[in-house]
Amino acid sequence: MTLVFSGVKPTGHLTLGNYLGAMRRWADVDQHQADALFCIVDLHALTVDHDPARVRRLSRQAATLLLASGLDPELCTVFVQSHVDEHARLSYVLECVATDGEMRRMIQYKEKAARERERGGSVRLSLLTYPVLMAADILAYGTDEVPVGDDQTQHVELARDLAVRFNQRYGHTFVVPRATPPQVAARVMNLQDPASKMGKSDDSGPGIVYLLDEPDVVRKKVMRAVTDSGREVVYDRAAQPGVANLLEILAACTGGNPSELSGVYESYGSLKSATAEAVVETLRPVQERHRELCADPGYVEGVLRDGAERARAMARPTVDAAYRAIGLLPAAAAGAGAAATSDIGVTV
Ligand code: TYM
Repeated sequence: MTLVFSGVKPTGHLTLGNYLGAMRRWADVDQHQADALFCIVDLHALTVDHDPARVRRLSRQAATLLLASGLDPELCTVFVQSHVDEHARLSYVLECVATDGEMRRMIQYKEKAARERERGGSVRLSLLTYPVLMAADILAYGTDEVPVGDDQTQHVELARDLAVRFNQRYGHTFVVPRATPPQVAARVMNLQDPASKMGKSDDSGPGIVYLLDEPDVVRKKVMRAVTDSGREVVYDRAAQPGVANLLEILAACTGGNPSELSGVYESYGSLKSATAEAVVETLRPVQERHRELCADPGYVEGVLRDGAERARAMARPTVDAAYRAIGLLPAAAAGAGAAATSDIGVTV
């Protein structure tokens, strides 16, 4: 059976971009068709300036929203990254396979490091090595497919490269994964700045629809979206990025096709109204279920506890195999008597 792994980072409130680019497919498709794991990758949230209490709160909220979006613990495994030591264990070994040049070429690193330096802050080393931890998240489980939005495909490429390199040097250990971005809404853009991704860690609130925004707030944000200087509704990402973004959001929410939908609306105003209502209706069931789950925090905790146990058992054999393959002495061998002495003996 295909194995699917994906994750979400608790660095901000989850957005419509997270939902349309990733989470909705996890619930609608992946958990039904594959052995699937979905992770709140909290270690990744420590790579930039962070508030410990906020990370804890956002981790709990992300877990609740994943379940509210339809993930069913009977069908898939939902867990928190820091509850499973195998991620950090494997990350170090993969750091011994990756190069610093590879890390410095990562687009997200370059962008985030530049932003951090502009603010006069320092760049955490973990921001540079972040993609290796992400590769460990993926490779620890023998993942075949990684359903992510467009912005993560370079990181998944790195995971592929590291898997291939490790296998060539030390013997076949890892499955080589591939990214599976969605057909529509692989990169939902900021409503106020259609040249930038709608990102949860950004500060520009009016351009970002959060999953827990009230319907009226959603309507206001969509109605105020920046559109383009023309008048016609045309699906052209380069010439009309604002309109194209709305068409993609509408298509993703209604199951339509952005090009076909462009012929349906005669004005930007009617496109915006239709998009606003489609988003409100898409978020409604998620918000309702979120309210129910918030009333039962014990349930969410139980899901995460069981999920971590399952994930640990799944990751351990692969990570142990990687430790052996790269030359680390298995713990059991140290006291294993004569049979082991040739392995740990004097002829190194
Ligand atoms: P994160 O938390 O930024 O985003 C979670 C998922 O949402 C997608 N996404 C978007 N898709 C379309 N439009 C957008 N505006 C948008 N914003 C976010 C992301 O592509 C992602 O699929 N590094 C990852 C988390 C991670 C991970 C992993 C993912 C850590 N380890 C292993 C997969 C496998 C991240 O920061 O996602």
